[in-house]
Amino acid sequence: MDINQRVAVVTGGASGIGRSLCLALASHGARGVVVADVDAGGAAQTAADIEAGGDRALAVTADMSREDDVKALIARTEEAFGPVGLFFSNAGIIVDGGVEVPDEAWSRIWAINVQAHVYAARALLPGMLARGEGYLVITASAAGLLTELGSAPYSVTKHAAVGLAEWLSITYGDQGLRVSCLCPQAVRTNLIATSHREVTEMPPERASLGTPQASVDGVLTPDQVAQTVITAVQEERFLILPHPEVATYEQRRAGDRERWLRGMRRLQARLGGQG
Ligand SMILES: NC(=O)c1ccc[n+]([C@@H]2O[C@H](COP(=O)([O-])OP(=O)(O)OC[C@H]3O[C@@H](n4cnc5c(N)ncnc54)[C@H](O)[C@@H]3O)[C@@H](O)[C@H]2O)c1
Repeated sequence: MDINQRVAVVTGGASGIGRSLCLALASHGARGVVVADVDAGGAAQTAADIEAGGDRALAVTADMSREDDVKALIARTEEAFGPVGLFFSNAGIIVDGGVEVPDEAWSRIWAINVQAHVYAARALLPGMLARGEGYLVITASAAGLLTELGSAPYSVTKHAAVGLAEWLSITYGDQGLRVSCLCPQAVRTNLIATSHREVTEMPPERASLGTPQASVDGVLTPDQVAQTVITAVQEERFLILPHPEVATYEQRRAGDRERWLRGMRRLQARLGGQG
């Protein structure tokens, strides 16, 4: 899809991948970029940076885990710039731990990492299907194709996000809805800075490579990820893998699940994680 002159909304636009996406969309000619985030100050800063470059932006304070906020975000976007052409459902959090994580934290991460995408699709679909076009990009993670060592809530919710993106693409792909699913490994943002480990979602192949920080596949910058997303959207590719190695890891997982699980256990033991 051509980004030029289209209205774009990015959730989690105050920081990290979302902020870089906002700036990249503006520089690719979006008619208006709506920066949505719970962090009002951060969203305002991203919008101000876009406007300083001569492009149009609007900051909206919204909690994507609340359906009313999602509906209001889309309504405000339409008032300001017109129908939503591209919606990047990107806000997400990580919670470390396993099944012992309290229900409140499971509910919170489920609401943000999964249900927020459901609310966005629910609000966007009628208009996009009526117009016969629209683009929804869901930020999942390589953890949604593989796993996240040390975080059951992140692994589970990111798998669910991938499942939702695939389901939407299958169900509405022939009616004009475009769907992409962004699945990066490590990206240098606040999310991994606040997590207990720097580099996540490593495949078993890297068990011999030492500390989690020694990621062979590299820690990307959010700007690099945003550039990959822009190209994928222009080409209308479903699966966006800023770390291309993830495609091989996913094939290996599907090809021999037992071997993959054994390898992940070995990696976890070497890293001194749970279990
Ligand atoms: N950083 C990584 O290594 C990495 C890897 C794979 C996937 N991801 C995913 O990328 C997405 C963006 O994360 P990031 O790394 O840029 O992190 P980040 O923490 O820098 O940015 C996330 C933004 O989302 C906002 N946010 C959180 N909860 C929200 C809510 N309920 N409503 C609205 N906004 C909310 C935060 O305020 C923040 O500005 C997330 O979905 C994350 O899971 C990140």
